[in-house]
Amino acid sequence: MVYSNRDNNAFYAQSGGVTPVINASAAGVIMAARQKGIKVYAGADGIIGALHEQLIDTTKMSEQEVAALRYTPAGAFGSCRFKLTDMQKQAKEYRRLIEVFKAHKIRYFLYNGGGDSQDTAHKVSQIAQEMAYPLVCVGIPKTIDNDLYATDFSPGFPSVAKYVAISSMEATLDLASMCSSSTKVFILEVMGRHTGWIAAAAGLTPVGFGAQIILFPEVAFNQEHFLARVKECVKNYGYCSIVVSEGVRDTSGQFLSASGNKDAFGHQQLGGVAPYIARLIQEKLKLKHHWAVSDYLQRSARHIASKVDVEQAYALGKFALKVALKGINGKMVTLERSKKNNKIIWETGLAELAQVANQEKHLPADYIAANGFEITEKAKKYLLPLIQGEAYPPYHQGLPAYFRLNAKFLKKKCTDFV
Ligand code: F6P
Repeated sequence: MVYSNRDNNAFYAQSGGVTPVINASAAGVIMAARQKGIKVYAGADGIIGALHEQLIDTTKMSEQEVAALRYTPAGAFGSCRFKLTDMQKQAKEYRRLIEVFKAHKIRYFLYNGGGDSQDTAHKVSQIAQEMAYPLVCVGIPKTIDNDLYATDFSPGFPSVAKYVAISSMEATLDLASMCSSSTKVFILEVMGRHTGWIAAAAGLTPVGFGAQIILFPEVAFNQEHFLARVKECVKNYGYCSIVVSEGVRDTSGQFLSASGNKDAFGHQQLGGVAPYIARLIQEKLKLKHHWAVSDYLQRSARHIASKVDVEQAYALGKFALKVALKGINGKMVTLERSKKNNKIIWETGLAELAQVANQEKHLPADYIAANGFEITEKAKKYLLPLIQGEAYPPYHQGLPAYFRLNAKFLKKKCTDFV
């Protein structure tokens, strides 16, 4: 069946942990759709908005509001940790999605998320086919963890990498200036779940300006080696600056710290490894220390975002809409690194949703130095181009002029979903 643009609407939703630039991808989708006369309905709180028919009408957003998405962190439409798993067990949910999409003439499903969310996009595309409903499903990558396969990087990661490198650099300068009579050790905990991409970014600082020890989830934590290295740094430099990834495990594979809570995707909630390391330093070395957990501060730090990140997140949003309009179903849009006039650039590409769903890309072994505490030149070559350029938000009265959506919802057409 051929529909006019009037009958072909797009659904866009944000899923999983948000990033400083996920809204830039949303802006790309909406801008591209407006040029083609397509209406974009955004799910309130991700796919949950589709289940409960809470669809935000982005056609009611002004040009300025859409433009403001480009420089506003977090998820403007709300995100979710909600997993659609087995198509038989959750048949009711899947059928409901199609019911809502049918009622609002939604033919394009654009899902902006990480590996678990690409799995949801894949399953939605399968169920639509099974139910003979014409729906084009396209995944848009995002995750600060940078653990998605098939794309050179995941939007969100470069900005967090930049924040972590800068924060470690600044805190290390503070430490170096106090260490002769006061604090000797500083520990910064960063996110990244099971992979050390974010922690690795701390290795980008110039020699003498950053952390001397990085603890990666890819390297089993050896207490003896670690404490020996701390002692050595304090002896040689007067201080020791440490960056630790939340996902570090001991030699038996146990997380050094996990809250015990699990999210809807079955992941353990991590966090709290910095105080664990701090305790160790207190008990075994009796050194004065400070520790910090960058937590949501890193994930929302749009004020120091990477320009590369903002631009590519936006480009992917635009490209995803283009791909959907071409009827290319079951793909995730990707970034491919290449060189033009001696400059690194990124081009857009495509990967199968089935190929990226539920996968985790770890830091390659040759990105980690032999001592297990630093990154290699190869890692720097990959990471450095990602943090290039600044894309400051506009400021008003000394603060970033971020935007909060006053959502206008579509009128409901279906019965309530229980
Ligand atoms: O997946 C991104 C991420 O920020 C991880 O680095 C972190 O472990 C997790 O999300 C935290 O998720 P939540 O905010 O749901 O606890």
